[in-house]
Amino acid sequence: MEIDKFVTHTCHEFGLEKQRPLGDGVVTGYGMIGQRTVFVFAQDFTVFGGALSETYARKICKIMDMATELGAPVIGLNDSGGARIQEGVRSLAGYAEIFLRNSLASGVIPQISAIMGPCAGGAVYSPALTDFIFMVKQTSYMFITGPEVVKSVTQEEVTMENLGGSEVHSTRSGVAHCTADNDMDCILKIRELMSFLPNNNIEEPPFVPTTDSPNRIDPQLDLLVPTNPNQPYDMKELILSVADDQNFFEIQKEYAKNIIIGYIRLNGKTIGVVANQPAALAGTLDINASVKAARFVRFCDAFNIPLLTLVDVPGFLLGVNQEYEGIIRHGAKLLYAYCEATVPKVTVITRKAYGGAYDVMSSKHIRGDINFAYPTAEIAVMGPEGAANILFRKELKTAEDPEGKRKELQADYREKFANPYRAAELGYVDEIIEPSVTRSRLIRSFELLANKRQSNPPKKHSNIPL
Ligand code: HXC
Repeated sequence: MEIDKFVTHTCHEFGLEKQRPLGDGVVTGYGMIGQRTVFVFAQDFTVFGGALSETYARKICKIMDMATELGAPVIGLNDSGGARIQEGVRSLAGYAEIFLRNSLASGVIPQISAIMGPCAGGAVYSPALTDFIFMVKQTSYMFITGPEVVKSVTQEEVTMENLGGSEVHSTRSGVAHCTADNDMDCILKIRELMSFLPNNNIEEPPFVPTTDSPNRIDPQLDLLVPTNPNQPYDMKELILSVADDQNFFEIQKEYAKNIIIGYIRLNGKTIGVVANQPAALAGTLDINASVKAARFVRFCDAFNIPLLTLVDVPGFLLGVNQEYEGIIRHGAKLLYAYCEATVPKVTVITRKAYGGAYDVMSSKHIRGDINFAYPTAEIAVMGPEGAANILFRKELKTAEDPEGKRKELQADYREKFANPYRAAELGYVDEIIEPSVTRSRLIRSFELLANKRQSNPPKKHSNIPL
């Protein structure tokens, strides 16, 4: 249902008074996805390059206000050169009004942005304030300003694709959350994402009945984690195996592949998954992975989506580069996000849970509700190699056969710490389970936790390390 079809701009400069197209370059309105109302705006690049005027902004603000009051998501289809240059500060004011609403609606209603053409200026900053950004391959671009302006200011020559194409933003910058092959694919993917999300921060996500048995056992999972602790495996196999109908909606698939995030359903209910990926960078937590997962955890927490955390992490990524770039500050984001989250949290340690990364990945100590480990789990301050080198440096120096001694000490350490039983003894792991029964144990756990109520101390707002 379209609204404000007859609105026109009020600019009388640069000859614009002679061109006053109805609707002024943006289509706004509301409709249904499934049985639920959503508000939508779609920018029209054929009208002044989709550039935003004061009245155009007012149209968008109108539906954003309605959506926030009614508890319905806003989906923006962006195709715009940003602030309409001819309108000057009036168009900047229009954008600021949108940014304000984006920020105030954040955590109240889901906000989804599709980038469907060249987008610059406010047309990328407004999406940046929303929860999910979809980009269409080959036809969509995001930059604060386009290649021509870049060239005139910095003398850099760059194509639209290399400056801000879908590949740049889905692999390097992390700005985009999903990519689509074409406009239709993009819209269908948004609908699919919506099927996992609640309409607002009070409603539940839609329940999607399944014929996939909650008691399904997968014997293949008992073979998933290799006996050699240094051999990688694909954590996605575990995610797909436990999910209803093997259905996993992955977010930021091509970015920071060492951590996996996305949505599954367990017995019909949406669950947010965060999983280390041993097949990329050995599953270490680096800056990009920490930031990627932290934002996801916060979205899930804001919208009451329970969290499943699958752990196989050898630690934070070490090195000069990571330190200079601020791994301390960025790693703290994920730690903070988990600490703050009050939604039901279930954790499965499949193999390594070392050092600070053990604490971070939804450990018992930061309010993990149910923490499982596989018999292959190794929970310790560091791996046997590093530990033996530090603890027994002197013995190793003086030993007749240092290599033999090293192996012996490592084996000893492995026996003592590189297993889940110490942590289980202390109650830090609630139960050690066989991998094959993971699905049924997860479903029972989330059912148990369905009515969890937990809150944080009252405050104006928290101060996440940014
Ligand atoms: C008015 C604009 C416009 C704008 C494009 N057009 N951007 N008109 N205001 N911001 C018009 C062009 O004049 C042209 O009109 C038509 O739209 C198509 O534009 P082209 O340049 O021919 O298209 P293309 O080559 O595809 O390039 C698209 C583009 C480029 C990359 C978006 O137009 C561009 O770089 N525009 C400027 C981007 C920008 O710097 N925006 C202001 C940002 S400031 P005709 O009549 O010739 O068809 C901002 C403030 C927000 O947004 C604050 C953020 C915090």
